Amino acid sequence: MKAPEHRIKIVEVSPRDGLQNDSTIFSVEERGALIRQLVESGVQFVEAGSFVSAKAIPAMKDSEKVWEHCRSLSADLSFLVPNEKGLERAMAIDVKSIAVFTATSDTFNQKNIGRSVDQSLEEYTPLIAKALQNKMRVRGYVSTAFGCPYEGPQELSRIVEVTGRLFEMGCDEVSVGDTIGVAHPKQVDEVFRKLSGQFPLSRLAGHFHDTRGMAIVNIKAALDLGIRIFDSSAGGLGGCPYAPGSSGNVATEEVIWFLEGLGFETGISLEKFLQTVQWLEEKAKRPLRSKLYASHPKQMYYFKP
Ligand code: HMG
Ligand code: MG
Repeated sequence: MKAPEHRIKIVEVSPRDGLQNDSTIFSVEERGALIRQLVESGVQFVEAGSFVSAKAIPAMKDSEKVWEHCRSLSADLSFLVPNEKGLERAMAIDVKSIAVFTATSDTFNQKNIGRSVDQSLEEYTPLIAKALQNKMRVRGYVSTAFGCPYEGPQELSRIVEVTGRLFEMGCDEVSVGDTIGVAHPKQVDEVFRKLSGQFPLSRLAGHFHDTRGMAIVNIKAALDLGIRIFDSSAGGLGGCPYAPGSSGNVATEEVIWFLEGLGFETGISLEKFLQTVQWLEEKAKRPLRSKLYASHPKQMYYFKP
């Protein structure tokens, strides 16, 4: 195993960010099968679903059943929780890891969860305290940090403030999100440079969507500053229904290939992972956006890390 500075934690979000916005609704069995295959390829952290309103996000209905399918897997499976009711659902089935989500932009947050950013943070304060009392691990998300589809550019001071409040409340990790995929590497450098001056590098994550094809360069910008946690999604599936213009997350297979080629260790077998992407594409019934997958297997061995 490589030294910690050469190890990357990949948080695989395809079962949640990937499927929540897809035109194909996956059954509980298919969602479970996806998670099982991801774990078999070496993925250790999976966002497995969300305890949100099924009216708002039909694809995430019955996330409890997905947990029942997968709870014995040896991986950290976490679920998005938007409010007290979401926490109750998680606690009722003994889920160990949850993620709360807010944003820098009030307009986006209102559309996403019906609350301003400050209102959501106030509500998360007792929620996180309760989750921690119940020995849960809590991750926080800061959406729209690099740009909001409604409000445009966001203040650096606001990103720092929201990130800081999530840490103060007890989040063990905060993922800073380019929800609609508009970030530029120079901006990523600026944001993570500022954040890493105030919060532990080992607890900051980058969540990049690939709308403009910049996600990998954005990861490189964060990597150069010492960020070692990245969220990504098999096949590049993903997006948020309340963020018009957002496209898929950065494809995990592209992240693995890129980072392993640079000498980092992800713990994931690229070859096994690509088999899962193939399965996912068959189930999604349309071509996935990942360029690396599209070139598989013809070209993938030209450079094998
Ligand atoms: P609320 O305002 O507390 O709900 O939350 P309410 O009290 O107004 O209730 C409305 C209905 O929702 C009621 O049902 C509640 O029972 C139900 P009805 O009486 O109409 O039948 N409800 C729930 N049902 C199940 N689980 C719950 C729950 N809470 C209330 N926890 C709520 C409104 C937040 C639930 C709603 O707006 C919602 O579900 N929004 C969806 C949010 C979401 O999942 N967005 C996508 C994920 S965020 C994202 O993708 C960004 C990210 O990837 C990072 C990035 O890219 O930046 C994380
Ligand atoms: Mg996202």
